[in-house]
Amino acid sequence: MVDQAEDLKKIMEKDNYSFPAEKKTRIIAISSGKGGVGKTNISINLGIAFAKAGKKVVVMDADLGLANVNVCLGIIPKYNLYQLIKKQKRMKDIIIDTDYGIQIVAGASGFSKIANLSDEERVGFIKELSALSYADIIIVDTGAGVSKNVISFVMASDEAIIITTPEPTAITDAYGIIKIIATEINNPNLELKLIVNRVNSIYEGRKIAERVINIAGQFLNVKVENLGIIYEDHIVSQGVIRQIPFMSLDENSKASGCIKHIVSRLEGIEYKEGSGIKQFLMRLMGF
Ligand SMILES: Nc1ncnc2c1ncn2[C@@H]1O[C@H](COP(=O)(O)OP(=O)(O)OP(=O)(O)O)[C@@H](O)[C@H]1O
Ligand SMILES: [Mg+2]
Repeated sequence: MVDQAEDLKKIMEKDNYSFPAEKKTRIIAISSGKGGVGKTNISINLGIAFAKAGKKVVVMDADLGLANVNVCLGIIPKYNLYQLIKKQKRMKDIIIDTDYGIQIVAGASGFSKIANLSDEERVGFIKELSALSYADIIIVDTGAGVSKNVISFVMASDEAIIITTPEPTAITDAYGIIKIIATEINNPNLELKLIVNRVNSIYEGRKIAERVINIAGQFLNVKVENLGIIYEDHIVSQGVIRQIPFMSLDENSKASGCIKHIVSRLEGIEYKEGSGIKQFLMRLMGF
């Protein structure tokens, strides 16, 4: 890691690159153990709720295997992270404005892991990411599971929100990813948070959250904060089918209410020193 970091540093020096001036860009990774638990919908709709609160938001689809943020928004991107990584396009060429107050960076469907990039590609990618330092919040939809790619995005973030549903397999896998994050990630600033999606009652959600949080505390000695629940609500699948985020379809739906609740909880959490885009980029590089 150290050698690689040294090599990357040299490449950056050669290119006269310096990290962007520190700005309080908040980087939130959305992850899960099991797939299909609601990450993409939560990333987009949290982004919209933050944008409604006046924040400049970029939702980045870092799921390089099965990118679908753009699909949920009914957008066919001209370019995506693939062209960025291959140095065919710059960030300004691939970032997309939407009708929902957020910008998106489309993922590179079918592309292999960021961890497999060459040093040059990796530096290039990270340099381009710093073009997003104007944003207040970058929400990274990481995709499911424990690939190196997911882990490196989570590692580089300030906050990781783990999504689970009440299904026992999702709960077990949520615990699994928390365990991997706890054992593999060396970022003392990283805060772990939990959302229980698709619940039928607050009681059900609270019980599941308590179970995950207690086990993580007891067996892994990691603190996981309960961010709350999102109700099972047909507006979510309606939104997916119509390719319109549910916050826009019905801002007063049960699911939208939950999203607003979670955003106000996230807004109440104070920004901490030592986080932000510079640290994100440096950690992504392995410094
Ligand atoms: N709160 C909810 N109420 C009802 N249905 C939901 C809810 N959340 C998610 N869903 C359903 O689950 C599906 C999967 O959601 P989504 O694509 O956001 O999951 P994901 O975790 O991003 O999946 P992947 O791991 O494949 O990227 C949605 O299309 C929707 O039908
Ligand atoms: Mg997804």
